Amino acid sequence: MEIVIVPDAAAGGELIAAAIADLLIRKPDALLGVATGSTPLPIYEALATKVRETDLDVSRARICQLDEYVGLPKGHPESYRSVVLREVVEPLGLTESSFMGPDGSAEDIAAACLAYDQALAAAGGVDLQLLGIGTDGHIGFNEPCSSLASRTRIKTLTERTRVDNARFFNNLDEVPHHVITQGIGTILEARHLVLLATGEGKADAVALTVEGPVSAVVPASALQLHPHATVVVDEAAASGLK
Ligand code: F6R
Repeated sequence: MEIVIVPDAAAGGELIAAAIADLLIRKPDALLGVATGSTPLPIYEALATKVRETDLDVSRARICQLDEYVGLPKGHPESYRSVVLREVVEPLGLTESSFMGPDGSAEDIAAACLAYDQALAAAGGVDLQLLGIGTDGHIGFNEPCSSLASRTRIKTLTERTRVDNARFFNNLDEVPHHVITQGIGTILEARHLVLLATGEGKADAVALTVEGPVSAVVPASALQLHPHATVVVDEAAASGLK
């Protein structure tokens, strides 16, 4: 696992956007796995700026979601489908046809999970998967004690994660209780994992991820098992490292 400490979130965004640009130059139709939440926004902003201001061609890039709320209609502004379309797909000048995600409004959620794992494999696998980290060490929405071999499936959000995510909704009651998330085993199949963590609130989770034992109690520690995992942290998020 490679650890890169940057001065702040903007620098992390620039660094990772540059890595994505390099990938798309090498492999124009790369499949880029994207996370939602606040942390990756500087990455998406930096990448969109590159597309506007340089000759970087992302027109053949493909985008896939890491997770999705269960029960929100597809058009809901906080469904992760809507968020990824708004924050990533549209600013890059792409269309819905270059984008895939799990169907959180499906009647048969188990079938939707299986179909998504199959769709990722059929697409040739994820080339670069962006990850954030929860204050409890989750990646995707693999909450503590998720199996390290897990596949895409439905998970119940912990109260802590629902409270953390309530800022995107009018109140806590509106935050769904369930999500579809790529499993840890699914995430580990991506060719390159890039986790960005910023802010002091992530310092404990980062320290356990990087310096603790590999354990289902800290799902992000599974990155230690991956041959090509990069953890980018700002100085605040790095403050718990020895
Ligand atoms: C979101 C996701 C989550 C977030 C994590 C951190 O798609 O998979 O693991 O990355 O909850 O969220 P922020 O960045 O909002 O602190």
